[in-house]
Amino acid sequence: MGIYDAFAPYYASGGFTQYSQRMTEAFPSLMRHFNQTPETILDLACGEGTFAISMAQAGYQVTGIDRSPAMLKLAKTKSRTEKVSVTWRQLEMQHLEYENSFDIVTCWFDSLNYLLELDDLCATFRGVHNALRENGLFVFDMNTIYWLVTLAQRYAVTVERETEEIFQVHRHSYDFDKNIATFYITAFVKEKDRWLRRVDEIHKERGYTIGEIQECLKDAGFQELACWGDLEDQSPLTKESRRVYFITQK
Ligand SMILES: C[S@@+](CC[C@H](N)C(=O)[O-])C[C@H]1O[C@@H](n2cnc3c(N)ncnc32)[C@H](O)[C@@H]1O
Repeated sequence: MGIYDAFAPYYASGGFTQYSQRMTEAFPSLMRHFNQTPETILDLACGEGTFAISMAQAGYQVTGIDRSPAMLKLAKTKSRTEKVSVTWRQLEMQHLEYENSFDIVTCWFDSLNYLLELDDLCATFRGVHNALRENGLFVFDMNTIYWLVTLAQRYAVTVERETEEIFQVHRHSYDFDKNIATFYITAFVKEKDRWLRRVDEIHKERGYTIGEIQECLKDAGFQELACWGDLEDQSPLTKESRRVYFITQK
């Protein structure tokens, strides 16, 4: 089983989808800010589909790709229930094979940090560049090294959820030599009034320097339009930003 497969239903039922919901709400003003009137969107690492489905409901033609079959199964069920059409594909984002097909490519919620090799990050950027139409935008966020280190040092153990049904704990560590953060995720799940099930997953995210990300973008042929610490208020990146948001253009 890959990451997010055992954890998929608990991801979808937790507050984790609120983030992509917020990105959905920020999207129209982002498009206005950069004078874009897109019709087609590719959402990389779409997860259980919150962003892709909302975009399809707003009238865009959307394709969502993700590595995890369990996350895609949730996305498919949700789009069927909501009666919206989205093209779903199981695909790793470092192996994109589209040509001039999309006006916008998005990748939300630190999904790019799951690429643990710089070569894979650069390959993803090159694939996105090929997938975009001329002048199309690639918009994404990543966790900063500052935040991955802070999680390990200041929030080494966090209780992410404590309800009648689930008790979920995250433990965080950081390998300073490799710039890799490890998240040990454990959820105890109540079934038939007893804590019968324990679910464990280990997630790894690599921290990339802003310089490494910019170099890869440049090599792929992108022009940087903005590099922010927050997308919603479009504030500048600082050395204490948890995330970095890039808006780049083909
Ligand atoms: C934190 S979730 C974010 C999901 C979604 N973007 C959101 O905003 O809710 C990370 C997602 O990245 C996917 N993922 C991780 N590595 C991937 C890869 N190499 N290619 C495609 N998807 C990947 C996982 O399966 C998971 O669905």
